[in-house]
Amino acid sequence: TAQDVTVTVHAGQGKEKIHKEIYGQFAEHLGTCIYGGLWVGPESEIPNEDGYRTDVLNALKNLSVPVLRWPGGCFADEYHWMDGIGPKSQRPKMQNNNWGGTIEDNSFGTHEFLNLCEKLGCEPYISGNVGSGTVEELAKWVEYMTSDGDTPMAKLRRQNGRDKAWKVKYLGVGNESWGCGGNMRPEYYSDLYRRYSVYCRNYDGNRLYKIASGASDYDYKWTEVLMNNVGQRMDGLSLHYYTVSGWNGSKGSATKFDNDQYYWTLGKCLEIEDVIKKHCAIMDKKDPKKKIGLLVDEWGTWWDEEPGTVSGHLFQQNAMRDAFVAALTLNVFHKYTDRVRMANIAQVVNVLQSMILTDTKGKGHMVLTPTYHVFEMYKPFQEATFLPSDLNCNVMKVRHDMNKDMDESNEKGYRNLEEMSVSAAKTADGSIVIALANVNLDKKREVAINLDGAKASKVEARILACKNIGDYNDFDNPERVKPAAFKDVKLKNGKLTVKMPEKSIVVMTVK
Ligand code: AHR
Repeated sequence: TAQDVTVTVHAGQGKEKIHKEIYGQFAEHLGTCIYGGLWVGPESEIPNEDGYRTDVLNALKNLSVPVLRWPGGCFADEYHWMDGIGPKSQRPKMQNNNWGGTIEDNSFGTHEFLNLCEKLGCEPYISGNVGSGTVEELAKWVEYMTSDGDTPMAKLRRQNGRDKAWKVKYLGVGNESWGCGGNMRPEYYSDLYRRYSVYCRNYDGNRLYKIASGASDYDYKWTEVLMNNVGQRMDGLSLHYYTVSGWNGSKGSATKFDNDQYYWTLGKCLEIEDVIKKHCAIMDKKDPKKKIGLLVDEWGTWWDEEPGTVSGHLFQQNAMRDAFVAALTLNVFHKYTDRVRMANIAQVVNVLQSMILTDTKGKGHMVLTPTYHVFEMYKPFQEATFLPSDLNCNVMKVRHDMNKDMDESNEKGYRNLEEMSVSAAKTADGSIVIALANVNLDKKREVAINLDGAKASKVEARILACKNIGDYNDFDNPERVKPAAFKDVKLKNGKLTVKMPEKSIVVMTVK
């Protein structure tokens, strides 16, 4: 029979490693991400381990989180770390001005965060305060966390119960410094970066990887100025890209949307490829050896807050549509892994495109979102070697601008969307892992995969599928969307044939 889709995986052409940090997470003091999401405190009735929710902790352990960014986001540039150390009863409160004006009691601070990273076995990524903090404050924070000597900050840390320094690799010098992080121009920020970063020292064998606050989406000038004015003084430069319809007015519901809005979403999410390419081209001019990493340290879908939730807390449901955004975006990151060294989806629990949603009213429920399941199914890609592939599939015309008519005379009105997305890699044990996403809402597709002569004797596959694209998990139906074993993959003469149901994501391992 004629195959609808053909894929050739170039199994012998692997060069670049997919950095596990591309599977990074982000936890901000925002809504119920920290309080109620990750942390309930040791006195809570919700089962916990030293104050961390046991259910959330175990679910995150199962994801093999490589790196966790904290404490913001916008919150980071108003955060004063010294308010979050020492006896909890003496920690001052503050108002979280960015996120709903909520009162923050600072009970989750540096020790609570770094100990969480130790429990998860992940690298911490500290986002430092440049917007409203001082050079001295940031310098001392680094000393407090990482100095093992007879230094004032190490002594203070010991007084607060932690003898040995933590290892902290990733340090962000400000966040969105063009916006909530200080409303600066790139020239001015570049000078501030140079100044702040000088005093962030490497103590006792700890080596910082310093990250400059980078552009939002299409702001190529920001990248250009930073490459010229900061250059090799930074190890990494960040980039933020949200799949969002705009910053004014409604962003649309997370669960109630029509087919046009669904396809629009995938087109918008895939636009990140063009954005990455353009930032990379600017970086290549000044840094052809690609020493500086491009870190997409905020990405994901941004919908309207769920009705009835606290305004400013960015609590949104997560449907199968979000799972597609996750899969398609990760597939793009894999391709640019020579420059894209890290990515942090926003955010880990209860905020924007979350892995996990928790019931914060005390019942202690938790659900894993469709996005969680994609991250879990994609685990074999962490540290695997990227394999280029060729894809031949149908191309759909989809809405580009929801406000303009989809009219072929109007270039802005529509764009092309391939109905299949594919990514492949070779794992350390020599297996080939292949992810396929059939984004078509109503057409099954038969996919023929040629492995370019690679040895293949066995295949195992799992699928994430749904009845409706708006399907999601909630406390009444926590397992409406979840992965299942997938049998419709045949291996014959080293070639795979996959019968992909409509709107489904399959990850397979070929041995
Ligand atoms: O992730 C939510 C917010 O989005 C972050 O705090 C900020 O950096 C970005 O604008």
